[in-house]
Amino acid sequence: MNYKQQMDIKLKELRSKDTVRILSIESSCDETSVAIVENGRKVLSCVIATQIDIHKRFGGVVPEVASRNHILAIENVTNEALAQACLTFDDIDAIAVTYGAGLLGALLVGVNYAKGLAYALNKPLLAISHIKGHIASNYISHQNLEPPFICLLVSGGHTAILNVKSYTDFELIGSTVDDAVGECFDKVARIMGLSYPGGVNIDRYAKEGEANIDFIHKNILAGTYNFSFSGIKTAVINYVHNKEQKGEEINIPNISASFQNLVVDELTTKTLKAINESGLKKLVVAGGVAANSFLKQRLTSECEKLGVELYMPELKYCTDNGAMIGACAYFEMKNGLECADFNLTANSTVALR
Ligand code: KG4
Ligand code: ZN
Repeated sequence: MNYKQQMDIKLKELRSKDTVRILSIESSCDETSVAIVENGRKVLSCVIATQIDIHKRFGGVVPEVASRNHILAIENVTNEALAQACLTFDDIDAIAVTYGAGLLGALLVGVNYAKGLAYALNKPLLAISHIKGHIASNYISHQNLEPPFICLLVSGGHTAILNVKSYTDFELIGSTVDDAVGECFDKVARIMGLSYPGGVNIDRYAKEGEANIDFIHKNILAGTYNFSFSGIKTAVINYVHNKEQKGEEINIPNISASFQNLVVDELTTKTLKAINESGLKKLVVAGGVAANSFLKQRLTSECEKLGVELYMPELKYCTDNGAMIGACAYFEMKNGLECADFNLTANSTVALR
């Protein structure tokens, strides 16, 4: 029997084991993270080595620099995750890794490290989608949360509304036709001279500002479940350039508040439309932009009015982390995910369902 055949037998046994501990690796962008998660819900440790300070001076993530820093960090982060959980590799049942979506070189570091570990330790290797991982972060933050629910996925690379029918079965309802919402936050922040990553800075400035600027753009997708953010982004960029050309100062708090207001309005309107249409009474938000305080505030009040339960990840699990990959891996494994073989490679994109 080859490695995969042996490991598929092990996975069958794991499906009926009471306690399953998965060591999970995330390296899709600029965070090297390793976590140990028990039964998909309990985080025994989650170590995150962020490269934000390294990429700040470039104004955004430089893929090659990210890959090199993942290589430098991954072994220490893994050892630290084991140490913090007071466990050794013997206590681990399976290795999980993000294979996509993300930066190819960055993903490859995690994928190859995970393959090496799985082979050396003779443990099953589980290949996990980063996007599904973001959704699963909510199973950690909300111990009783179960599908079905509508999910608003808002990250640096994706924006979508999904019907999450079960832990592993997703239906795509709508998605962005151009920029992802996080990407749009980052670009607008950059044009105003705010440091990377821009989303959190816009969130902060918006609190001091007034949403009093009308960024005129065509709302081409009104009435659909799809999003377009490039029109809003271009309107802000044109506004800032125009002010600069006239030698006028820009009001960062007001621009931030006005931009954020438009984006949050677009996200909220379409998500609530999907909720109403589906008849489901549960809304789950996932991805880095779930950390946005105004989005949280707006969804909280709208969901209250509609009697919809709202679930958002704890702040520390909104952005990239290994724990969400471990949570997702557990439910995928329980529902029949087979062991990845050593042909597993990284993918810069993965299907949303
Ligand atoms: O999910 P994530 O960590 O990475 C991807 O999978 O893409 O999301 C990162 C994105 C960045 O674009 C970042 O600016 C945005 O999440 N973000 C925020 C906030 N915190 C992080 N955007 C708006 N408001 C925030 N508070
Ligand atoms: Zn992410």
